[in-house]
Amino acid sequence: MPKIVIAIDGYSSCGKSTTAKQVAARMGYAYIDTGAMYRAVSLYFLQNHVALTNPKAVQDALQLVHISFNFNPKTGRNETCLNGLNIEEEIRKMYISNIVSEVSAIPDVRYAMVAQQQKLGRRRGVVMDGRDIGTKVFPDAELKIFMTADPTIRAQRRQIELLQRGEMVGLDTILENLLKRDYIDSHRSEGPLRKAEDAIELDTSYITLDEQIEWVVQLADEKI
Ligand code: C5P
Repeated sequence: MPKIVIAIDGYSSCGKSTTAKQVAARMGYAYIDTGAMYRAVSLYFLQNHVALTNPKAVQDALQLVHISFNFNPKTGRNETCLNGLNIEEEIRKMYISNIVSEVSAIPDVRYAMVAQQQKLGRRRGVVMDGRDIGTKVFPDAELKIFMTADPTIRAQRRQIELLQRGEMVGLDTILENLLKRDYIDSHRSEGPLRKAEDAIELDTSYITLDEQIEWVVQLADEKI
């Protein structure tokens, strides 16, 4: 059976990664969380005091960033590693969310990440979620989904997710962060967040996760 690329783009905290992960599991595909890659770069830049406005410093630092996804049999999940260290928990924290959009707007950062993402999906059989997958990384993806949801509902979902990870953050703070990220992500020069012309839009505000997954799997089946 031929394998396809499924690109899931959209605003922050619409349920893209949870859906993508489950769809990949159902189809026996690899799941690539491209947001985790930008979060990993942000963590490296913070830890190493890389000046975001210094192109040479950014380019030099990018040479030293090695991101991998390693399967953890204990959690049954693929976890993000930076230079061999598991950073899965760390990159989900609010202090990373607060800088990730600035880091990911730097063109050199995007060129490096997009090249890696294209390599990861070159054999197809992947579900990739992000902001520019259907427009930039895999403009030839067989199935493109663009997810949206009511901002307050997104903030509530994100708050629950953070709480489950042990971080208590107010709803207003989360909402502000989501809207700020959406704005920066949509207005950057390189790979801005926008719906690909051939993407199918899905508003996840009032549907369950199971419904989202089912809907994407059905669309994927039609494409195979
Ligand atoms: O998906 P997640 O919310 O973890 O992504 C974190 C941030 O990474 C986004 O707000 C965006 O700034 C950046 N990102 C991006 N392009 C992608 C995926 C994520 O710019 N393909």
